[in-house]
Amino acid sequence: MKKTSIRPLLFSDISQVVTLHRDVLGTTLNAQIGSKYLFELYLLILKDTNNSAGWVAVSSDGEVIGFLTVTRNLFELEKKIHAEIGIVAKIRAAWYLLRHPSKIMVLISRSKFSRYLRQLPCHQYPTILTIGINHNIQKQGLGTRLIAASDSYFVSYNVLRYFVDTEVINQQAGDFYSRLGFNKFGEYEGNVLFEKEFF
Ligand SMILES: CC(C)(COP(=O)(O)OP(=O)(O)OC[C@H]1O[C@@H](n2cnc3c(N)ncnc32)[C@H](O)[C@@H]1OP(=O)(O)O)[C@@H](O)C(=O)NCCC(=O)NCCS
Repeated sequence: MKKTSIRPLLFSDISQVVTLHRDVLGTTLNAQIGSKYLFELYLLILKDTNNSAGWVAVSSDGEVIGFLTVTRNLFELEKKIHAEIGIVAKIRAAWYLLRHPSKIMVLISRSKFSRYLRQLPCHQYPTILTIGINHNIQKQGLGTRLIAASDSYFVSYNVLRYFVDTEVINQQAGDFYSRLGFNKFGEYEGNVLFEKEFF
């Protein structure tokens, strides 16, 4: 593997991240809504400097070959997404959900879990938002390096517990999170939720 560096996500990386996201996470709702929506989403994450952050893995020739984004407050970020995402993206999301009714149940379960978390004092749902590594260079340690950046970020803000979820059928991601110290928190509608705690 060429020399690879991990650095914070920049505005100028977003186009490459969107292309990579569609490549490695193409079947997810976000990717199905389309590139324009994904571009707006990454822009919002970058602008949400109070709560959110991202990193990219970049090869020596400047190609983005991996990405990871996180938020310390999913509730706040979701409010911004709902307020700022255009009507076309919303229609595309609704159209996708009509064609994939099982995903509606996933969203309902996730929102129930959010409501549960909201009741807990000071809980803001810190979570990994997106993570992906170029197919050709998976299993070479890049994902682990990105998770290390995420761990340091949360710890530096004194967030000692954060979440990530993936589809149950994504065994590769499940094994990856388990190896990196995430514990299974629960399962809902074909998704598995992991948590990582620092003590
Ligand atoms: C999940 C994902 C992010 C992991 O990234 P990655 O760069 O492959 O992760 P790593 O290389 O750090 O670790 C993966 C495995 O490779 C192994 N590995 C790491 N470096 C290695 C090396 N030099 N030689 C051999 N194996 C190695 C690790 O032991 C690890 O094993 P595990 O899967 O049992 O934990 C990546 O597979 C991916 O992008 N998947 C598609 C998108 C996706 O599913 N995202 C998650 C949705 S929630």
